Amino acid sequence: MERMKIPAKGRERGALLEEMAGFGAEDADFRGGRTWSMVYWAGEAHHHLVEKASNLFLAGNALNPMAFKSLKRMEHEVVQMTASMLNAPASAVGTMTSGGTESLLMAVKAYRDRANKNRPWIRRPNMVVPETIHVAFDKASHYFGVDKRVAPVGPDGKVDVAQMRRLVNRNTVMLAASAPQYPSGAVDPIAEVGALAKAHKLPLHVDACFGGFILPWLERLGVPMPIWDFRVPGVTSISADVHKYGYSPKGASVVVYRDMSYLRHQFFVSTGWSGGVYISPSMQGTRGGGAIAGAWASLNAMGEQGYLERARAAWETAEKLRTGIAGIDGLRVLGSPESTVVTWASARDGVDVFAVADQLAAKGWAVDRQHKPPSVHCSVTAANAPVVDDYLVDLAAAVAHVEAHPELAREGEAAVYGLMAKVPLKGLVAREVLKVMESMYGPDGGAPELSATAPGDDDLVAKLVARYGDQVFGLIERLGAVRDRLRRVVRRP
Ligand SMILES: Cc1ncc(COP(=O)(O)O)c(C=O)c1O
Repeated sequence: MERMKIPAKGRERGALLEEMAGFGAEDADFRGGRTWSMVYWAGEAHHHLVEKASNLFLAGNALNPMAFKSLKRMEHEVVQMTASMLNAPASAVGTMTSGGTESLLMAVKAYRDRANKNRPWIRRPNMVVPETIHVAFDKASHYFGVDKRVAPVGPDGKVDVAQMRRLVNRNTVMLAASAPQYPSGAVDPIAEVGALAKAHKLPLHVDACFGGFILPWLERLGVPMPIWDFRVPGVTSISADVHKYGYSPKGASVVVYRDMSYLRHQFFVSTGWSGGVYISPSMQGTRGGGAIAGAWASLNAMGEQGYLERARAAWETAEKLRTGIAGIDGLRVLGSPESTVVTWASARDGVDVFAVADQLAAKGWAVDRQHKPPSVHCSVTAANAPVVDDYLVDLAAAVAHVEAHPELAREGEAAVYGLMAKVPLKGLVAREVLKVMESMYGPDGGAPELSATAPGDDDLVAKLVARYGDQVFGLIERLGAVRDRLRRVVRRP
């Protein structure tokens, strides 16, 4: 294939935009409510407003707040409006970031550096977190050299705080928990984790990237909600994504700290660079003005009333989905009903979740497959309200079809996901997934391909499934059982 080049002459603008509009033809249909994550759609009118607001400041750069006072002002106001919503004290401060992941990376970096200053004897810092905490904490651990000590969650999806307590040691620099966690939407017992943090004089970050802009409104609507924000004395910081339930354009999250004594450690200052003194509040250097302006516009255009209305619609849709799924023979709903996450799993052996997921995908639904346990995640918004009944009809039909055709669990994406969920050798899975990444980002920029029907020479997992099918699944299950037994023996005192 000939390599792409920048065209020698600029193309006609109208034709160019028309062509680009066509690029999205096969993308997930979020406008029609067929996505259950990734896009938080508040309708065309709101979209046009935030689009216009972003465009006004698209060329601006928040890297230099002296040159772009407008962006500094809007960032400050977004942070303060978020802090008020989260019941933060008057001393609260924070920054905007490019998204949830960056907010979480920044909290870990800030607490590592704070410990570095206050407890310099710590050689190998660690953080104690629930097993369901967002994967960005693995990234933070990897980037910043902070070990992740993982506490299990109970059957309700909430972290076991006694286990967290056991994991705290002299090298612990922070605790974290979620409101709610992504996999099944449970809100961790933040009041208890806060008490633990206080007892050990440790900072506590609450990951409310997902829930920050919806739980406060659900609480106001009377949904039973444990206290999880700055009203909990031990909470020292919270991240909340405006680009999720804040309905702003992508690239906008907020990380708020109780006071400057924490935020200070997030900042980066360099005085030695030949380009001059350089200061930066977060990971990015150049910071686009569009996301900041879009977030400011979104908060102001929605107002409390707009957020309450959308929260009510999202909650009612989530309840409808939960009830509908609970009524489908062969499925069960995971987690707690405190948030707008609905996660379903199989209730018996004959119903393979990933095969059901393939059937839904074939009908145009975007499906989020999860591993522990095999399940499908839905982040519900008001945009799903018009199609929730259609989803339930398709889901019930998919379950019946899969039960009648058990071979579907060994075909298509179901085979690969099923195998990856069961493979006890996680190094093997990581290697295979890296290969998919390498092919996506290779010189030809291939599309992601996770099907077991056409394995390439190098696709070990796909090849194994295609060639040995059931034998491989059987072997892997046995290997998993041996591994679990070994672990039990090793753990025995
Ligand atoms: C609980 C939670 N934390 C963090 C993130 C990461 O956010 P982002 O994808 O914007 O980086 C997510 C994303 O879904 C989330 O659900």
